[in-house]
Amino acid sequence: MISVDVIIKADYDEVCREAARIILEEWSRKPDLVLGLATGSTSLGVYGRLIEAYQDKAIDYSRVRTFNLDEYLGLDETHPHSYAHFMDQNLFARININRANVHRLQGKPRDIEAHCADYEAQIKQAGGIDVQLLGIGRNGHIGFNEPGSSLTSRTRAMTLTRETVADNARFVSPGESVPRFVLTMGIGTIMEARLVLLLAYGSNKSDAILRAVEGPVTASMPGSALQLHPRTTIIADEDAARLLSRKEYYRWAYENRDQMTEFLE
Ligand code: GLP
Repeated sequence: MISVDVIIKADYDEVCREAARIILEEWSRKPDLVLGLATGSTSLGVYGRLIEAYQDKAIDYSRVRTFNLDEYLGLDETHPHSYAHFMDQNLFARININRANVHRLQGKPRDIEAHCADYEAQIKQAGGIDVQLLGIGRNGHIGFNEPGSSLTSRTRAMTLTRETVADNARFVSPGESVPRFVLTMGIGTIMEARLVLLLAYGSNKSDAILRAVEGPVTASMPGSALQLHPRTTIIADEDAARLLSRKEYYRWAYENRDQMTEFLE
């Protein structure tokens, strides 16, 4: 088996359906699943599907535990641009999650280092992350690990690149400043998740997907670290996958996955 599985779907909607299907499958094996969650427009559609699954009684979140990837420094959880607020609005308020099982990095911690170390300890205490959902920045960042982040980095504070600040400006009202400082799980933290699902759609992500999947493993492209992860699945739409050179193989392997599974059972 290749370490990075690539699934190419026709469009964004199908990307989200596939990701939600995999999460549901993992949950059915482990109802107290530990989910690592991401923010951004890519994960929104997955959350839509996960809410639908709850409404259809296909999933019960009462024992599910969550850890969010990152947060803006300086924003408390009621701030409309905080990732805490994003998660409440787009997922937690609409499912039966037990709030005691929701973990997130604080935007205004009293002691950043202690807070980050405590977050890592909480992940360990939960038994580690079972499924980590990820998007990818145009510059290849995962979580908020900007290019140059150590591949073994742990949860810590980071300064965003100008490019990421500009990209995130779409989430804030005109005239408002975009936060430049964040807390993020490190690449080393993400690499310890048992299953990583990285999603991408749109041609503006095609270069990042090419470099993450088929480029050299380098700290200059944080997404490429996943080539060293034992169980990563990249789900991309046709536009995001358009530059991949082994596209035909990925499709072939996906079409034949059931026969492969027979050998593994
Ligand atoms: C932010 C988040 C990342 C996310 C990225 C891509 O920077 N911290 O976790 O992957 O945006 O965002 P989008 O999905 O909106 O393209």
